[in-house]
Order: sequence, then structure tokens, then C-alpha cells
Amino acid sequence: MTIKSKIRTIPDYPKKGIMFRDITTLIKDPVGFRLVIDNFTQRYIKGDVNFDVIVGIESRGFIIGGALSYTLGKGFVPVRKKGKLPAEKISHEYELEYGTDIIEMHKDAFTKDTKVLLVDDLLATGGTALAAAALVEKLGGVVSEMAFIVNLPDVGGEKRLKEKGYKIFALTKFE
Ligand code: PRP
Ligand code: HPA
Repeated sequence: MTIKSKIRTIPDYPKKGIMFRDITTLIKDPVGFRLVIDNFTQRYIKGDVNFDVIVGIESRGFIIGGALSYTLGKGFVPVRKKGKLPAEKISHEYELEYGTDIIEMHKDAFTKDTKVLLVDDLLATGGTALAAAALVEKLGGVVSEMAFIVNLPDVGGEKRLKEKGYKIFALTKFE
């Protein structure tokens, strides 16, 4: 069984022409979910990538980031969509295809110079990951690497993030 083979593709969702890569079929499978977490754990348990905390992006980034925080023995910090965090927070506005969105993180999520592993399920345009990295950097943190289950290189996110100097790791890609 491969991770890629368990990801379902929905044509024309959420609009015509988009091939939506759906990880729910992967993570509902106990073997599939374990394979995802085991693969990430093997990469990050070695200590080659130096980080203190895992930052996961709402909402699918929470599923992976939470499990990985447990296996790696690291804390978990959520990046949330606007209006969901109760304490003092920082915000970052970013461009969507139509309009803009805002994501937030608590101001006391970590201290200056903290090294962060940023986690999400999927990399498409890279807009969400870049916005999350901006939040980390506003607090004086450093993004050591960005980890995804799926990379969609044709959409351009990988190139965009690498041009800005970020390290990208993905378990599989769809071209
Ligand atoms: C999806 C996905 C990533 C982001 C990737 O999340 O989980 O977070 O889009 O796209 P990008 O690289 O073009 O920014 P979505 O905003 O659909 O939120 P959800 O996880 O709450 O469904
Ligand atoms: N699948 C899931 N989330 C996404 C996708 C996709 O293909 N594109 C942008 N966000």
C-alpha cells in the first residue's frame, strides 16, 4: 500500500477544472494514517532537522501535526483562521484566488529564536504556508522546514517557497 494510492481525487471540486486531492480516504484507513505519521516520524526523529516546536495549520494540519507532536515529543502550536483564538494574538492577511483571508497565532506561542517545523496536509499555491511562516517570523521564530503529505508542484507553491529560502518536504506529489 502506498500513501499516494489512498488519496482520492475529486474532479471539478470546489470548481470546474480543479482536481481536488482528498486525504480523508488516506487518514480514515488505519494503515494509511499510521504510514503517514511513521514516515514523518522517521524523518524528524533523527534530529537532522533542528526544531523545538510543531506549528500546524487549521484544519487539516492539526490532524498530522497533533499526531506528530506526540510521536516526536514536541509541543504543538495551532495557526488558526481569524477569530478563533482567545488570548492576545498576531494576525497575517494573505491573498486567496478571490479576496483575502486572515490567520492568527497566540503572541505567547513561543519565544524569540524558537525553531519551528511547520506542518500542513497539502501544498498548492503556498499562500497558506507563507502566511503561517510570516506569523512565526513576526514572533522572532525560525522555520526549519515545512512538511506536507501532498505537494502539487504544478500549482507553483514549491517553487515560490523555495525561492524564499524555505525547505520543503512532502511524502508524495501529484503532477
Ligand atoms: C487547504 C490545505 C492547505 C491550503 C493549501 O486548506 O489544507 O492549508 O489549502 O493551499 P495553498 O498552498 O494554495 O495555500 P483550506 O484553506 O482549504 O482549509 P481547511 O484545511 O480548513 O480545509
Ligand atoms: N486538495 C486539498 N486541498 C487543497 C487542494 C487540493 O487539491 N488545493 C488547494 N487546497
